[in-house]
Amino acid sequence: MYVILGGTGNTGKHIAETLLAAGKAVTIVSRDGAKAQDLVAKGAVVAVGDLHDSDFLTQTFRGATAVYSLVPPKWDVQDWRAYQIQIATSITLAVHSAKVPYVVNLSSMGAHFPEGAGPVSALYYLEHMLNNVPGLNVLHLRPGYFYQNLYGLLDMIKHMGMIAQPLAADFTFSMVHTTDIATIAAQRLLNLDFKGHSVQFVVGPRDYTFEEAAAIISKASGNQVPFVASTTEQTVQGMIGAGIPATIAEGYGELYKAIASSGYTEGFDRQSNAYIGQISLEQFVENELKYALVGEPV
Ligand SMILES: NC(=O)c1ccc[n+]([C@@H]2O[C@H](COP(=O)([O-])OP(=O)(O)OC[C@H]3O[C@@H](n4cnc5c(N)ncnc54)[C@H](OP(=O)(O)O)[C@@H]3O)[C@@H](O)[C@H]2O)c1
Repeated sequence: MYVILGGTGNTGKHIAETLLAAGKAVTIVSRDGAKAQDLVAKGAVVAVGDLHDSDFLTQTFRGATAVYSLVPPKWDVQDWRAYQIQIATSITLAVHSAKVPYVVNLSSMGAHFPEGAGPVSALYYLEHMLNNVPGLNVLHLRPGYFYQNLYGLLDMIKHMGMIAQPLAADFTFSMVHTTDIATIAAQRLLNLDFKGHSVQFVVGPRDYTFEEAAAIISKASGNQVPFVASTTEQTVQGMIGAGIPATIAEGYGELYKAIASSGYTEGFDRQSNAYIGQISLEQFVENELKYALVGEPV
């Protein structure tokens, strides 16, 4: 039996579907069983509960072949780091108590920074906590920037007609579709071919600049959406002005500075330790994001 945290989320849903299609028993964790009915129809069991509840997770994890773990985003917190560490601790204690043998953990590129990378620095601690569980085999997936983050820029595109981000126009960085993350996560969960603790990066077919992303969105939507390099302070204030809690906005400000630093990709090598996804940014924009801008075809 496999336990998938975030089984109704971006990666967990695809992982659950792949494991079910392979004939595996799958339990997904959700706070709301009704959200998981399509997976139940495919054979999944839903464990209804909260990741803060380590006793609930321990019961759910007992007897599991492997667990897929992640710290989900939360947009209404006053102290983002404290929230992330609570969830990381709860998961780790349950993995330990239930003697789970294998974990595939959703981490992030940049998780080698214990400080200075905003939300990603909390994943440093999650990785280290799991690495210290005796006898556990844990694989940390370290993906690049999710294409799906671009949905968060739609209001800016619609109301301001541009994409402003605190990165230089010619700064290239790794992006990826969450389906590609789910593909490699499911593959590693089925193969259980990792021992001790290890890291695998996950990136799309090529890297992009935000200027290229803006050009791809412009072409697909038929509207010119120029890219404008903003300052970190402008970005943080813009997020706060849009109603995002300061703890999160400031975390992202810190993360963007880390992404722009030379050390952010430390340890990453496209050739030797990365899974290269199939889905390009062009395909994501053409087949998914575009419809949030121009509406569904009739
Ligand atoms: N965005 C990026 O560019 C990026 C890049 C690299 C790494 N990451 C990492 O990816 C992770 C987040 O991935 P995501 O955005 O794709 O998340 P996600 O999987 O879409 O998160 C939502 C899922 O988490 C579940 N969930 C949320 N809070 C819960 C709680 N308290 N108890 C139980 N379940 C809960 C939700 O289930 P229910 O609603 O059904 O309960 C839902 O299935 C983060 O750790 C982030 O640092 C993100």
